[in-house]
Amino acid sequence: MDKIVCANYEEMSAVAAYIIAEQIKRKPESVVGFATGSTPLGAYKRLAELYSCGYVDFSGVISFNLDEYYPIKRDNSRSYFSFMRENLFKYVNIRPENVNIPNGECADPEKECADYDGRLKRLGGTDLQILGVGNNGHIGFNEPREELPLAAGLVDLAEDTVKANSRFFEKPEDVPRRAITLGLGGIFSSKRVLVLVSGAGKAEIVKKMFSGSVSALVPASLLNLRGGVTVIADKAADGRL
Ligand code: GLP
Repeated sequence: MDKIVCANYEEMSAVAAYIIAEQIKRKPESVVGFATGSTPLGAYKRLAELYSCGYVDFSGVISFNLDEYYPIKRDNSRSYFSFMRENLFKYVNIRPENVNIPNGECADPEKECADYDGRLKRLGGTDLQILGVGNNGHIGFNEPREELPLAAGLVDLAEDTVKANSRFFEKPEDVPRRAITLGLGGIFSSKRVLVLVSGAGKAEIVKKMFSGSVSALVPASLLNLRGGVTVIADKAADGRL
């Protein structure tokens, strides 16, 4: 697992945006696994700027998001569908038919998960998977557990995660307690993985990711088991502040 340590959030975001843009320039029909959360927001802003100055073209890009709350209406401003539209897709020329996000309003989540995995398999996996890391080490919404699923599934969110997500919702009862997420198989199908971590709050988890051992109780540590993973951290997340 390679690690790039940037001076601050801005620098981390710029480096990440260039890596994503270079992937798209190299292969205009790239399948890009997008993540949500606060961490990639700066990178998405930079990416939109790189599009508006003509550096990168999204017309061939196929997006494949990691996860979505369940149940949630797509037009709910807190859905990951809205997140992607508001923070990236509305600023670039991605084709709506090329956008893949689990459907948080489906009636049959089991079928939705199987279909979502099937679609990813038919695409041959993602070319580049962008990942944030939860405070408890989760990737996508794969929470720490003794056994982690390979397939996409409907999962219960850990208490820590519900608490962390509550900042986005007005009332505690609105905070979703379940989500549809790609499993470890879908995430690991990517040819390349870019992990973004920022802020002192992530320093403990970054330390665990680079501790020299792996555990399903720290899902992000499992990324050590494969090649092609680059972690971009700012100094604070790298424990240097
Ligand atoms: C959510 C998302 C994850 C994300 C995590 C971290 O749980 N499902 O994909 O990595 O939040 O979020 P943040 O970047 O806001 O710390």
